[in-house]
Amino acid sequence: MTEPDFLRETRASYDAVADRMARQFRDELASKPWDRAVLGAFAELVRRAGNGPVADVGCGPGMVTAHLASLGLDVFGIDLSPQMLAQARRDHPGLRFEEGSMTALDLPEGGLAGITAWYSIIHVPDELLAATFTGFHRALAPGGHLAMVFQVGDERVVRTEAFGETISLTFRRRRPDHVAALLTAAGFEVRARLLREPEPYEGGTESTPQAYLLARRPGT
Ligand SMILES: C[S@@+](CC[C@H](N)C(=O)[O-])C[C@H]1O[C@@H](n2cnc3c(N)ncnc32)[C@H](O)[C@@H]1O
Repeated sequence: MTEPDFLRETRASYDAVADRMARQFRDELASKPWDRAVLGAFAELVRRAGNGPVADVGCGPGMVTAHLASLGLDVFGIDLSPQMLAQARRDHPGLRFEEGSMTALDLPEGGLAGITAWYSIIHVPDELLAATFTGFHRALAPGGHLAMVFQVGDERVVRTEAFGETISLTFRRRRPDHVAALLTAAGFEVRARLLREPEPYEGGTESTPQAYLLARRPGT
């Protein structure tokens, strides 16, 4: 089967900048209190529900994956970009990282206690987002939790350059209400939303409010 252009372009773009991105963002969570707060709440919910496996989809260099592991979760990373995965494995040799697309998760039905998607649904085309959320719902056990963050807005931002490399990367800003409605339609119960303003260091594609959503697959 031919691979869609958006997957090929996203993978090639992140492959091209993986080493420099990993270096620049390795310690970023230390200066992101809102992210740590939401990830902390997510981890507590997963632990309380029995602490099963968690997939961090679009894990990049693995800093969220590693943070969740430090909070006691049994977490592994999934990413489209082999070079990002190489960075993740080098920085976090004790953790598992697998190649795959969140738009077609190759995971057993109901096997996960949690999914995080940290700034990664931003690269999923609009027409595939509903099916992607249906895939998340299928991979989660009843009672499983989902947490995500994304840039808020209506625009598509296309970047053709990063770290001096030519890339072709589309960032899709979205409205939290729209994303919440898609999650509900996929069978999720939306449990919490947090909207924050951009920080001074969030320039370029990130200079817009950021939305965190937590949702749960209903069940025990
Ligand atoms: C902006 S980075 C965020 C990385 C990491 N989650 C973080 O917050 O530091 C987006 C990541 O999502 C990955 N990605 C994009 N589309 C994907 C897809 N369809 N399936 C899996 N990973 C994807 C990219 O390769 C990249 O590593």
